[in-house]
Amino acid sequence: MTAKGLRIVQDVQTAPVLDVRISDDEVRELLAKGEKTSLLRFSTAGSVDDGKSTLIGRLLHDSKNVYEDHISALEKKAQSKGGADIDLAHLTDGLKAEQEQGITIDVAYRYFSTPKRRFILADTPGHEQYTRNMATGASTADLTIILIDARKGIVTQTKRHSFIASLLGVPRLLVAVNKMDLVDYSQEVFDAITAEYTAFASKLGVKQIKFIPVSALKGDCVVNHGDAMPWYSGETILEYLENVYVAGDANAVDFRFPVQYVIRPNQNYRGYAGQIRSGHIQIGEEVMALPSQRRSKVKSIDYLSVDPNGCVLESASAPQSVVIALEDEIDISRGDMLVRSHNVPHVRQEFEAMLVWMSETPMDCSKSYIIMHTSRDTKSYISEVSYRIDVNSLSREEGRPLNLNEIGRVSITTRTPLFVDPYGKNRATGNFIVIDEETFHTVAGGMIIDRQPQEVFHQATDEQVAKAPRSKFIHREDSAIHRSAREEAFGHKAVTLWCTGLSGSGKSTIAKALEDRLFEDKRPVYRLDGDNLRFGLNKNLGFSKEDRRENIRRAAEVAKLFNDAGITVVCSLISPMALDRERAKEIIGEDSFIEVFLSTPLAECEKRDPHGLYRKARSGEIDGFTGVSSPYEAPESADIEIDTSVCSVETSVELLIRELQKKA
Ligand code: ADX
Repeated sequence: MTAKGLRIVQDVQTAPVLDVRISDDEVRELLAKGEKTSLLRFSTAGSVDDGKSTLIGRLLHDSKNVYEDHISALEKKAQSKGGADIDLAHLTDGLKAEQEQGITIDVAYRYFSTPKRRFILADTPGHEQYTRNMATGASTADLTIILIDARKGIVTQTKRHSFIASLLGVPRLLVAVNKMDLVDYSQEVFDAITAEYTAFASKLGVKQIKFIPVSALKGDCVVNHGDAMPWYSGETILEYLENVYVAGDANAVDFRFPVQYVIRPNQNYRGYAGQIRSGHIQIGEEVMALPSQRRSKVKSIDYLSVDPNGCVLESASAPQSVVIALEDEIDISRGDMLVRSHNVPHVRQEFEAMLVWMSETPMDCSKSYIIMHTSRDTKSYISEVSYRIDVNSLSREEGRPLNLNEIGRVSITTRTPLFVDPYGKNRATGNFIVIDEETFHTVAGGMIIDRQPQEVFHQATDEQVAKAPRSKFIHREDSAIHRSAREEAFGHKAVTLWCTGLSGSGKSTIAKALEDRLFEDKRPVYRLDGDNLRFGLNKNLGFSKEDRRENIRRAAEVAKLFNDAGITVVCSLISPMALDRERAKEIIGEDSFIEVFLSTPLAECEKRDPHGLYRKARSGEIDGFTGVSSPYEAPESADIEIDTSVCSVETSVELLIRELQKKA
């Protein structure tokens, strides 16, 4: 095989084992050449009927990116059927065969090259152009080819694919009007389709749209121009792919470096390995590590190149994978991010996003998922679907949990903060995937939406923002009677027992019994019940994520006041989110806080259904009911866990008294 033979059609996922007999030097030379030519990633959208396989086959064949033996096999096949021409669509048969064997390949990446450029084509095999496949293929694409059958013109699927490509931020579309041979290579047909598509696309916000008339079957305007359409003097598909300028797409401004590994070969060196996802950096520049916000300067940048010894760089930019060492020893670990101190992403535990649901199993707002974002993963909840988009009409529909291939706008809460940019500004730090915790399957892809462009606390976490009072012009007036003096006078330490659990789990029952018992013991005690608070202090709050957070915050602030007054508090609130309970604990103070998890199983709570609310929730009469249509995040390390389906009220009270004594 010659060196030229390296330029083959290759499915990256099913790469054939190559019998390449060329020297190491030649390989190095080729790789070095490859490093110099630019890379274009593109995806295709269109069904087999539009001639997608034929177009890809034609592109590879005419650009001489196909094995000679593969072609002669197809020639033999054609001859055996009495034909002379090979069927180019069969050049992509390898994938179909794999599909038939039951191997699922949703997106196949094909690599090919010409002397001018290297290409990665994300191809979705088969008839089914599922939204999810297209979304996966297009998410990193510099451009998407939208195929239109000249005889049919713009159909629903054309609009659907164009919308998904624009949603994914694909900066340019190449509209290939195919099967021109079947409309007598008519310029009128081409012009009419161009005009109609241009009008439709004005809603999409795609930077650049190029139209090319082609006949994939006959080869016109794919790689070679051909003579059939003298009225078209523009570029062929390959010429366009080779020449289109894409380098300007990359976000060169915002330096984002998620740390993948910490490399520490000896005591004298500590380097952070990862891929620069956007922007550039050079030695001596100041960087900030997130989440610690500690600053340092870049001491060295190492880069592994084809040179076996690697090389040291003065500066580096996306998408290079490098190892960065800093001048100061600061604590940085996997999942942290290096950024420039005056250009930081948002630090968020809550954000809104467009989600493309990719799983057969529908979204479940009551369970947790893992979100993978840059090099971080965190437990998370999808708390709300504000609307779904009907991709056929581009209209908004009422929000409900998403099913396979549906797209919608959602609110997400994560356990640990993520360092995010809006997708529209930075595709690399604006996208994430959602993984099912049990199966580890990817169930959705997401794009972060900028919700608060006018942020004041640019570098502050949600938590820091939430803590700050509204006005700077307020002053504390401390009491002369200190809490410890009150506790001493009453003879008891004041604590808060925070009972969390599903509706019907026994929170109120246990809280009441405990209150009675403590009162009998002459301990100053007061019960704060979620339902009761909602008749007064919290009567302006509902059950949205934000309202529940505020409900819990107010309850915690009141509990803290009671504790300051020397009074023990028994709170009973569903308080479904771990983050909200953590904040409550912070308000009340770790030393005074006992987390009591009423872990009675949902089925038992639902069986009890003391106020018939589960029944109403199941019938849709109540929206966002915890455990049914809204999440409950079970505590992972509660101070005490009680399942009232097996533990009596008396025993529960005894256990709580014992827990209380530990703090006393
Ligand atoms: S929390 O989630 O904000 O902590 P809280 O404990 O105050 O909830 O109130 C829960 C009580 O409100 C339940 O016991 C139930 O009686 C009632 N309720 C009404 N609507 C809902 C709902 N959508 N989800 C949960 N509880 C609800």
